[in-house]
Amino acid sequence: MSAKVTNNNTEVDSPLILAIESSCDDTSAAVLRGNRVLSNIIANQDVHREFGGVVPELASREHQKNIVPVVDQALKNAGISKHDLNAIAFTEGPGLMGSLLVGGSFAKTFALSLGIPLIAVDHMKAHILAHFIDDEERNAPEFPFLNLTVSGGHTQIVLVEEPLKMTIIGKTIDDAAGEAFDKAAKILNLGYPGGPMIDKLAKTGDASKFSYANPKTDGFDFSFSGIKTSFLYHLQKEMKLNSEFISENLNDICASYQNHLVSYLLSKMEEAILVHNVKDIALAGGVSANSELRTRFQELAKKHGIRSHVPKFEYCTDNAAMIGIVGYFKYLNSDFAGFSVMPKARLHF
Ligand code: KG4
Ligand code: ZN
Repeated sequence: MSAKVTNNNTEVDSPLILAIESSCDDTSAAVLRGNRVLSNIIANQDVHREFGGVVPELASREHQKNIVPVVDQALKNAGISKHDLNAIAFTEGPGLMGSLLVGGSFAKTFALSLGIPLIAVDHMKAHILAHFIDDEERNAPEFPFLNLTVSGGHTQIVLVEEPLKMTIIGKTIDDAAGEAFDKAAKILNLGYPGGPMIDKLAKTGDASKFSYANPKTDGFDFSFSGIKTSFLYHLQKEMKLNSEFISENLNDICASYQNHLVSYLLSKMEEAILVHNVKDIALAGGVSANSELRTRFQELAKKHGIRSHVPKFEYCTDNAAMIGIVGYFKYLNSDFAGFSVMPKARLHF
C-alpha cells in the first residue's frame, strides 16, 4: 500500500486527520498525523451514573455541550491549526442515534467549511484497528488474524484479512459481554459502568467458589442472558437464606462471575483458533481492559504457539484515536463519504 496519496492535487505523505467519536456516552476528538496520535481528548459523562446506565437523551445533550471544547483541545494539544487538517473522520455507527448525530453533524459542517474530505468510520472496526496506532510500544498483529471484540454493546469474533477487509465469524445472540458485567454490577449495587469495579473486587476473591450456567450456542456465537439470569437466581436463593450473603461474599462473587465470563469468551475463541489457521490473535473493545481477560488471552495464545495482542489501556474503551486510525487507512484508499451520509444506529460489516 502506498503511503503517498493525493488530496486536492497535493501529495500528502502523512495526512493530518481530525477524528470524532460520539457513539455512546464519551465525547472524544483526536488528531493523527498518519498513523501516529498527536492528541486524544475524551470527555466522560458522569450524568448517567445515578441512573445505572446510559440515558440516550442526556448523552446527546452532553455531546452538544462537549463537542466544541473537546475538538478545540484536541487541535491545541496537537499543536496545529484547523487549516492544517487534510480530512475529518467521524463515527458513522453503530451507536445511539442522538449521540451519533451530534458528532456526525459537527464533522460534516467542519469538513464542509474547511473544504476537506469527510471519512465515515465503523466504530466496531475502529476498536480492532486501534492495534495499528503507531507508538513506541507498537505490536500490531499480522494479517490474517482473529480478533475478539468485547464491548458494552457488542461481542464478536472477527477474521481480519486486511485493514479494511474483515468478516464477523461469531457474535452474541443476545446481551454483550460488557452488559453481562454491567448488569451483574447493577444487581450488586456497584455503580455504572460496573465492569471495572467487578475487575477490581475480583482480584482478592476466590474464583472457584460459585458456578453459573453454561450456554449452548452454535458455532462461534455467544449468549450471555442465561449466565446473567443464573447469576441473579443464585443471589436471590442465597439472600433468602442469609440477607448478608452479598456483603459477606462480594469479592468471591465477583471473582467467580468474572472467571466464568472469561472462560466462556476464551472457549469460543479457542474453537475459532482451531478452525482458522492464524498466527495472531487480538483483543479489542472496552472489556479488553479486564485484567483477567488480558492475562488469560495471552496464555491461550501461548498454549497454541501463536502471538497475542492486547490494546493499550487508553485505546480499550471508546476514544477518537481509534476512529482516526481507520480514517487514515480509508484516506490512503481515497475512501471518502459524501456530505449526505447519515449516522446509522445499526451498522453491519
Ligand atoms: O467499548 P466501550 O468503551 O463502549 C462500547 O462501545 O460499548 O465498552 C464499555 C464496556 C462497559 O460495559 C464496561 O463495563 C466495560 O467495557 N469495561 C470492563 C472493564 N473496563 C471497561 N469490563 C470488565 N472489566 C474491565 N476492567
Ligand atoms: Zn466501543
